[in-house]
Amino acid sequence: MKKILVIGATSAIAREVAKIYAAQECRLCLVGRNEENLQIVADDLRVRGAEAVDVLALELTDSATHQELIEHAEHFLQGLDIVLVAYGSLPDQPACEENPEQALRELNINFVSVVVLLTQLANEMEKRGSGTLAVISSVAGDRGRQSNYIYGAAKGGLSIFLQGLRNRLAPKGVQVLTIKPGFVDTPMTTEFKKGLLWVSAETVAQGIVRAIDKQRDIVYLPWFWWGIMLVIKSIPERIFKKMKL
Ligand SMILES: NC(=O)c1ccc[n+]([C@@H]2O[C@H](COP(=O)([O-])OP(=O)(O)OC[C@H]3O[C@@H](n4cnc5c(N)ncnc54)[C@H](OP(=O)(O)O)[C@@H]3O)[C@@H](O)[C@H]2O)c1
Repeated sequence: MKKILVIGATSAIAREVAKIYAAQECRLCLVGRNEENLQIVADDLRVRGAEAVDVLALELTDSATHQELIEHAEHFLQGLDIVLVAYGSLPDQPACEENPEQALRELNINFVSVVVLLTQLANEMEKRGSGTLAVISSVAGDRGRQSNYIYGAAKGGLSIFLQGLRNRLAPKGVQVLTIKPGFVDTPMTTEFKKGLLWVSAETVAQGIVRAIDKQRDIVYLPWFWWGIMLVIKSIPERIFKKMKL
């Protein structure tokens, strides 16, 4: 029976991942900022077969809460096989351009707080010498675009951080998985017009669980985003800077 910590457990993608593990009778500790919503997720997972589910509500962007988070999870789970870090926000890019304080808040949610939290979690996993740190980054971090470069910078920085962490932890037996979804139909993207490239949170969740099982390092979800980003990254900067993206 796997012991799983989900951070940002009210996220649509995280909920679908947790459903898969609940059906495998895993033990789950759910962390987020809204107790009521976490309880709703927990009740659902219990019905779906989870061995046990606990919730912890705290402010993830406040690094003073991270020690409590880790102690609580370890006490409840009595071990730690998989950590999924899923929380994040999609910034209003024009608002961030107007207001540097807003840009700072977004960078804190999507990059700084995640790095600070993972730094502590990584030390725990290193001591154990096993387990998985699975973190949701984004294809948006592969190249900066005018329409969302604050988000892109945060996710790009996160992907680089994870690359370094993987390099450090691989010899210690800890898997560090960078998850790069493309367009996923979730509450984060309700405002967007959906098209052919869009997929459900359920599809992405299946890809995440598969990548964890296969001990992958980086996964694009769905897979075709690997090719799309390869093309986007290969466009010379002198051309790219003139494109409306
Ligand atoms: N949807 C996409 O197209 C897409 C594509 C690439 C990557 N991603 C990434 O996938 C991850 C999951 O997103 P999702 O699509 O599942 O969206 P979602 O359903 O809107 O979930 C976002 C999660 O982040 C939490 N969150 C937002 N602001 C927060 C804050 N200030 N402090 C703490 N938690 C906060 C939310 O908590 P509450 O429930 O309390 O609001 C929720 O759990 C994110 O890291 C996102 O950047 C999404």
